Amino acid sequence: MKTILIIGIGAGNPEHITIQAVNALNRVDVFFIMDKGEAKGSMIDLRRDICARFITANRKYRFATAQSPQWDRHSGEYNAVIGGLNSDKQAVFEQMIAGEMQDGETAGVLVWGDPSLYDSTIRIMTDIAAAGRQAITYDVIPGISSLHALTAQHRTTLNTVGQPVEITTGRRLTEGGFPPRTDSVFVMLDGDETYRHFAEDDSLDIYWGAYVGTPDEILIAGRLKDVAGQIAQARAAAKKTHGWIMDSYLLRRRRQKD
Ligand SMILES: C[S@@+](CC[C@H](N)C(=O)[O-])C[C@H]1O[C@@H](n2cnc3c(N)ncnc32)[C@H](O)[C@@H]1O
Repeated sequence: MKTILIIGIGAGNPEHITIQAVNALNRVDVFFIMDKGEAKGSMIDLRRDICARFITANRKYRFATAQSPQWDRHSGEYNAVIGGLNSDKQAVFEQMIAGEMQDGETAGVLVWGDPSLYDSTIRIMTDIAAAGRQAITYDVIPGISSLHALTAQHRTTLNTVGQPVEITTGRRLTEGGFPPRTDSVFVMLDGDETYRHFAEDDSLDIYWGAYVGTPDEILIAGRLKDVAGQIAQARAAAKKTHGWIMDSYLLRRRRQKD
C-alpha cells in the first residue's frame, strides 16, 4: 500500500503551516509537484522553502516534478474543460504514484490554502483509489485558506451576525448577480474583475487583497464605489510587475438604516 498525504500549506505565508502539517511533512518520502509554468515559479519556491524550513535536518526526502496539464481558460464550456483537466491530472498523478514511489512509502501533495476549497486534489485521489489501478490510501491535512488569510489581514469577519455567506467565482457572480439571501460574498478565481459590475451600488463595501500573506501583499478596502478604480489600477500595475496575479475579495452589503 502507498500513502498519499494531501497537505494544506496556507495561502502564501510559510507561518500559515499548522503543527499537524509539520508532522505530516516529516512523514513524507517524496513530494509530488505539478509545475504550472514559470509564472507560478514562486509558488513552487514556497513549497520547497516550506520543506527546507519545517522538515527535520536528518530526514531524507525527494521531489518528483511533472508538468501540469494545460487547459483553455477562455472556453465557454467551463465544466467540461475542468472535467478534462482533472482527468489529465489524474493520469499524471497515477504515473507519479506508479513510477516515483515504492510500496510502503508516503507521498505528499502540498496544496495551496486549504485542500477542500476550489482544489481538485481530494477528488482526484478519491478517483485514483476507486479506479484500483494503484493501491493507495490518502489523508487530508487542512490549511489556512486564502479566504481566512484575507479576512484576517483586513481584520474583518467572513459573515455578519447570524447571516449566511456565499463563496463563489467571478464567473458565477457575473452569471447570477449579487446573491439575494446573503450580505457577504467571497469571490475567488476572478480574472475579469467582476466587482466592477457592482461599482454603482452604493450599499456595497469591498475587502480586496492580492498575494495575501506574501511579501508582495496588497490590501485595499472601502466603499466599492470609492475604491473600485484604485483596485483596478493596483491590480493592473501588480500584474505588469509580476507577470501574474492571485487576488480575491469579500463584497459586503451594508445594513440599511431603519
Ligand atoms: C484554485 S483556487 C485555490 C484556493 C485555495 N485552495 C485556498 O484555500 O485558498 C485559487 C484562487 O484562490 C485565491 N487565492 C489563493 N491564494 C491567494 C492569496 N495569497 N491572495 C489572494 N487570493 C488568493 C485567488 O482568488 C485564486 O484565484
